[in-house]
Amino acid sequence: MINKISPSMMCADALNLGATLKDFEKNGIEYLHIDIMDGSFVPNFTLGTDYCKILKKATNIPLDLHLMVDRPEERLDWFPIGEGDIVSVHVESTKHLQKVLRAIKDRGAKAYVAINPATPLCMIEEVLCDIDGVLVMTVNPGFAGQKLIPQTLEKITKARKMLDANGKNDAEIEVDGNVSFENAAKMSKAGANIFVAGTSSVFTKDLTLKEGVKKLRTAVEI
Ligand code: DX5
Ligand code: ZN
Repeated sequence: MINKISPSMMCADALNLGATLKDFEKNGIEYLHIDIMDGSFVPNFTLGTDYCKILKKATNIPLDLHLMVDRPEERLDWFPIGEGDIVSVHVESTKHLQKVLRAIKDRGAKAYVAINPATPLCMIEEVLCDIDGVLVMTVNPGFAGQKLIPQTLEKITKARKMLDANGKNDAEIEVDGNVSFENAAKMSKAGANIFVAGTSSVFTKDLTLKEGVKKLRTAVEI
């Protein structure tokens, strides 16, 4: 499976957004990870609907929307979701997971199910046929700059096995939270192939974006 980088836009310098997007395009960045928080499902507010619309107009890089909101099924229409985008919804956020995953696919996007560190993988068993990927949270969602929760590495391995055992060999595994160069290598070995790059990698102060991207790509080559 091809490794891909999805920089976490909440970690990008808002005052230099245009230049950052150009840099991403030049460096072959595959996705833009956009954290949508509602202050209820997670204890924070971050990026919102207008921001997504601005990015959609400004670049051809597909969006990777991470919805950390209650009842996502009522809010999909607020976002500019299209062909090639990823939309992740949390298994913990809705009573109608299958319905919202189908609604994402109906919009031509890739439906991913996101799972918090404490939620057992069996919670997604019944929707495997409705997903294109799993977003394994490796920290509790809400804030950048947290430390990896170690047992989530084993969960990546389990998720890969679960997908393969159910004929979902093409389903991708995305990891989000403290994806440092060192952790990314371990996550990659465990079976992850989309890496959300935040303050732990491409948005570190001591590296340029180009250097950070190169270092991350090297780190995840198995
Ligand atoms: C939460 C966010 C954070 C963060 C990732 O959903 O996506 O996990 O921005 O970047 P780090 O953990 O490297 O600061
Ligand atoms: Zn995220």
